[in-house]
Amino acid sequence: MEKRSVTVAAVDVEALEREAQGAIAAASTRAALDEARIRYLGRRSELKQALRGVRDRESGMALNAVRERLEAAIDAREAELELTELKRLDEALDVTLPGAPLRRGHLHPLTQIIREVEDIFLGLGYEIVDSREVETVWHNFDALNQPLTHPSRSHRDTFYIDAETLLRAHTSTGQIRTMETRRPPLYIATIGRVYRRDTPSPRSTPNFHQVEALAVDREITLADLKGTLMHFVRAMFGEDRQVRVRTNYFPFTEPSVEFDVTCFLCGGTGCVFCRYSGWFEMGGAGVVDPAVFENVGYDPEEWSGFAWGLGIDRIAAQRHGIPDIRMFWENDLRVLEQF
Ligand code: DAH
Repeated sequence: MEKRSVTVAAVDVEALEREAQGAIAAASTRAALDEARIRYLGRRSELKQALRGVRDRESGMALNAVRERLEAAIDAREAELELTELKRLDEALDVTLPGAPLRRGHLHPLTQIIREVEDIFLGLGYEIVDSREVETVWHNFDALNQPLTHPSRSHRDTFYIDAETLLRAHTSTGQIRTMETRRPPLYIATIGRVYRRDTPSPRSTPNFHQVEALAVDREITLADLKGTLMHFVRAMFGEDRQVRVRTNYFPFTEPSVEFDVTCFLCGGTGCVFCRYSGWFEMGGAGVVDPAVFENVGYDPEEWSGFAWGLGIDRIAAQRHGIPDIRMFWENDLRVLEQF
């Protein structure tokens, strides 16, 4: 049956419906759909105005049928748009997915070793004290009884800032700084950076780390020193490590020794790493020289002490089997991520 075209109050209802259906279908967002709804079904729309002007039943029914069809079309279109919007959101964000893993950082291998060293000393009842890196010549050399002619005082060995100021060449300065301001008994350790004019090589860098230990009390002997040292080395490297003590000279200790630890790689039988000696040189130690006590105002008749110092970077290299300590300073993530 052919549909009859209805014209109500000069409105071509069929053309209006076609136009409205077209606009509804073309609305690609909910905002556009709302606009279409207001335009074709709103209070001021042609359709509503026509409805208000209707006087006969037939026209009323025809117009209402159009209204209903348009409302249904809008609802359907709205559902469609909602669905596509949801789908788009879904593609962009799936809240049920596990989060992207965060890359976790960790402490630098040297920092890890420094913390371990601190823990060992704290376990022994020592106090960790900070000391400055920019130092006076007095604290770095004079107070430590270093002779004026000692080669380490040279500009070729030490970084001077001016005639009286330098970058500390060892953490032994921490001994002086502490003793100047405190009274014995003292059990302290200083850990930090030290500076020397060394050409970078697999075994040395111009900037490295040391730990310095100092014990001052009554009747301290070399045996106390060796006991503490053994404890430290075994806590650091394992119970099966051997320590070897050799006589040496340091101006701030008398007697002075140097100590070695059995090679971590071969256990002492000899390998490329320890240059077939079976031993690694760890640091220096000794009984505090009375001249040092006098320099800080301690009575050497009343007080005695021991001190030792060793390089942290070498400990870390040993522990991790790193053949070149410069690797600690290069910040190559491929290396650092392994620890
Ligand atoms: N300060 C020395 C150095 O840097 C290491 C050292 C040797 C420290 C003997 C000491 C010591 O406390 O008693 O080579």
